[in-house]
Amino acid sequence: MFKHSRAEFGEDFVFGVAMAAHQIEGGQTDGRGSSIWDTFAATPGNIKNAENGSIACDHYNRWAEDLDLIRDGGFDAYRFSFSWPRLIPEGTGTVNQQGFDFYDRLIDGMLERGIKPLATLYHWDLPSALQDRGGWMNRATCEAFADYAAEVGRRFGDRLATTATFNEPWCVTVLSHLLGIHAPGYRDIRAASRAMHHVMLAHGLGIDALRAESVQNLGIVVNMEKCEPLTASPEDRKAAELGDAIFNQFFLDAALQGSYPSLVTDIIEPYLPTGWRGDMRQIARPLDWVGVNYYTRSLYKHDASIPSFPFVQSRGDLPKNDLGWETYPSALTEFLLRVSRNHPKLPIYVTENGMSGPDDDGRIDFFDKHFHAIREAQKSGADVRGYVAWTLVDNFEWAEGYDARFGIVSMDPETRERKPKGSYRAFQQMLTA
Ligand code: FCB
Repeated sequence: MFKHSRAEFGEDFVFGVAMAAHQIEGGQTDGRGSSIWDTFAATPGNIKNAENGSIACDHYNRWAEDLDLIRDGGFDAYRFSFSWPRLIPEGTGTVNQQGFDFYDRLIDGMLERGIKPLATLYHWDLPSALQDRGGWMNRATCEAFADYAAEVGRRFGDRLATTATFNEPWCVTVLSHLLGIHAPGYRDIRAASRAMHHVMLAHGLGIDALRAESVQNLGIVVNMEKCEPLTASPEDRKAAELGDAIFNQFFLDAALQGSYPSLVTDIIEPYLPTGWRGDMRQIARPLDWVGVNYYTRSLYKHDASIPSFPFVQSRGDLPKNDLGWETYPSALTEFLLRVSRNHPKLPIYVTENGMSGPDDDGRIDFFDKHFHAIREAQKSGADVRGYVAWTLVDNFEWAEGYDARFGIVSMDPETRERKPKGSYRAFQQMLTA
């Protein structure tokens, strides 16, 4: 059980649980269009065990059961994402009524159960038709995103507690266009640089489109990872500073202050779209909150033989989850304080945090240590308004397939039957006490 209690965090503090459309829904029927994750998974070698999200947790059919679990666990909120290709199969143009009906049922189901809907518009499943035209490398995708945001805002906006444009721009761009690990699987610095800028432009346009539909409580969700030098050498320190600028500053600085860190633009300027500076005001629209996803740290070693970003990353010897991610809770305190120092008026939510693996006692301990990290940040003045655990049900963990298990509820791969783990009970006990 947890050592922390709900009351410590403050009266209106929100506890939630998160899942994302492509990782759970399945339901490729009823008019849903193809996404880049469908084709990425169909391409040999991209996903562990050649798995895919075509059925996933069958949440498309089992959503009511999942919402019951969220309610019975005592959670206040459910952070979910809309599937763009389910709503607008080709990315632009004709909408799919059955997709809108699905999210109507889901959102109304949350409200009936007293669960606050925390929505994300883009959790990585870009419609394939837009990828055919260059996806995030193409500026036109920003306009398409704004139209999609407006459509969602019009149909659902008045029922959403918070709405985020993007989940983890670093993953959408660097991981997916430079490192080639996530869809669409590019390894190209020009592709990545253009995606980095266009995703942020789409964010800013999306915010305006949502506001124009009177949607309230708008934000963005970034992932932060502690970047530390492998050794105390000045070269490794510089490598870690560059890592931090790419990972932890680039997207937040753009959204919140309309600038990119020069450490990064000094390198990627030749690859950015011409005239990018002229977009920075459009990118930095006022936000109502910011979401921080936090999992782990990375160690940086300078490597002069690597062009552009001259470093290699590795893990250290802290306790790890089964994906090799080190547990490092104190960095969460640091990040929350950093964000609140740089942007004193902006409420912060921890929008994801969790641990993969079979060791459920370890998972309980992991959550508890991060609760402590949040309390430390609150005590030092950070305005942290909520904590959202990743994730409810074990699900399709992207390139890691179904081997990774972040859930507080397990799922039988054959029957898809859900079974609460001890960590679910720990939340239930803390939240309903
Ligand atoms: C985050 C993603 C989420 C899940 C967790 C483990 O980067 O937002 O979908 O994959 O990691």
